[in-house]
Amino acid sequence: MKNLTNKRVLLGVSGSISAYKAPDIVRRLQDLGADVRVILTTGGSKFITELALQSISKNKVHHNLWDQEAELSMGHIELSKWADCILIAPASANTISNIASGKASDLLSSVILASDAILMLAPAMNQQMYKSSALQDNLARLESRGVSVITPDSGSQACGDIGPGRLPESANIANQVANQFQTTQLTGQHVMVTLGATLEAIDPVRFISNHSSGKMGMALVNTCIDMGAQVTCVYGDINIPLNDRANNIETLSAEKMHTCVMQQIHQQDIFIACAAVCDYSVKTPSNQKIKKNGENLILELTPNKDILADVCKLEKKPLCIGFAAETQNTLKNAQLKLKNKGCEAIILNDVSNAEIGFNSDENQVIFISKKQQKNIAKNSKAKIAKNILKIFIKEFL
Ligand SMILES: Cc1cc2nc3c(=O)[nH]c(=O)nc-3n(C[C@H](O)[C@H](O)[C@H](O)COP(=O)(O)O)c2cc1C
Repeated sequence: MKNLTNKRVLLGVSGSISAYKAPDIVRRLQDLGADVRVILTTGGSKFITELALQSISKNKVHHNLWDQEAELSMGHIELSKWADCILIAPASANTISNIASGKASDLLSSVILASDAILMLAPAMNQQMYKSSALQDNLARLESRGVSVITPDSGSQACGDIGPGRLPESANIANQVANQFQTTQLTGQHVMVTLGATLEAIDPVRFISNHSSGKMGMALVNTCIDMGAQVTCVYGDINIPLNDRANNIETLSAEKMHTCVMQQIHQQDIFIACAAVCDYSVKTPSNQKIKKNGENLILELTPNKDILADVCKLEKKPLCIGFAAETQNTLKNAQLKLKNKGCEAIILNDVSNAEIGFNSDENQVIFISKKQQKNIAKNSKAKIAKNILKIFIKEFL
C-alpha cells in the first residue's frame, strides 16, 4: 500500500528558479498514491508553464483568485476544503512572507488562510536570502503555528553561490509529505472495522444485498492505520482496493461476518461496525439454480444476528462505534440505535441524499454519543473518517 493513497495534496508552486522541478514533485506524490492539484502563483508562472503542470497532474491548474469560471467549478474555499495537505514547493521568500503575515492577496495565500489542512513549505532561494533574519523570522513564526518547514539542501546554486537554499530531491519531499499523515494517537490500539455489503444467497447464482461500497469503512481502516493502530478489516462485498497493512478477512454473508467478528473481538480495543449487514437472509437457499416457471416465487426470509448488538453485550466489550444509514426520522432513529445497542457512538448517515452516502466519494454525517451530537460537514470520506476518529478519541481515549 502506498502511503498517500486517498490523500489530496494541493501543491503551491511559487516564484523560485527551482519551480522547474515542480512537475517531478507532482509525479513523486502521485507515485505514493496522492491525488494532486496545483496552484501556480504569478511568480511561479515565470519559471514553469501551467500546461506542463496540468499535463502531469491531470487536473486544471489554479492560478487566479478572480477567475469567475474557476470559482464556479471549484472555488477557492472548495479548494481549501478539498486539500488534506497544502505543500508549497518551491516556496519563495515572498510567498513565505505573505503567509507568515496572514495575507490573502492572491489565490494561494487565500486558500491557505481558509484551510485547516496540514501546511508544509519547502523554501528554495539564494543562500543569502535564506539566511536573512527576515526570512528566518518568518519561518520561525510559521513553525510556531504548526507549519512544517522542509529543510533546504546545501550546495551550489543556480546563481553560482554555494550554501543552503536548494530545493531537496522530489522523492524526499514526497516522503516528508507522507510522514505527516502518520500519527501516534492510536498506537498500541487494536481496531476492528467491518465494511462493505453482505451477500445473502438465494441460490448458487443469485443473492440479496445492498448498495454499500465499503468506501467509508476503508477510509476508517486507512485512517486508523495512519494513526498507528493495528487494524483487522472484516469485509463483505467490495470493489475497492484493500490496505495491505491491515489484517484483511473476507466474509461475504452476514452469518460469516458475525462468526468472524465474534471469534476475534476479544483481541480488540475498538470495534467500528461500518458494514451494511443485511438484516435478513433466505431461510433455505436452493442448492441448485432456481428455474423460472412463470409462477410467483416466495422467498422466506429470516432475521440475521445483530453483530454490533452482540459485541456490545459482551462482558468485556471493546469501545464500539456503529453506523446508522437512515432515510427518514434520521436523528430519532440514530439516537434509538445508540440507546438500544449500547455502543459508545453512532455515526448517522442520511442515505436518502444521493450526493453523499452509499457509493459516493463524499459523505456528511452526525457523530452522536450520550454526551454530544456533532455535525461533520460534507467532505471526502477520508476527511470524514479523520474527523470521526478525532472526536471519538477526544471523548473516549
Ligand atoms: C531569475 C529569478 C530567479 C528567482 N529565484 C528565486 C528563488 O529561487 N527564490 C525566491 O524566493 N525568489 C526568487 N526570485 C524572486 C521571486 O520570483 C519574486 O520575489 C516573486 O515576486 C515571487 O513571487 P511569488 O512568491 O508570488 O511566486 C527570483 C527572481 C528572478 C527574476
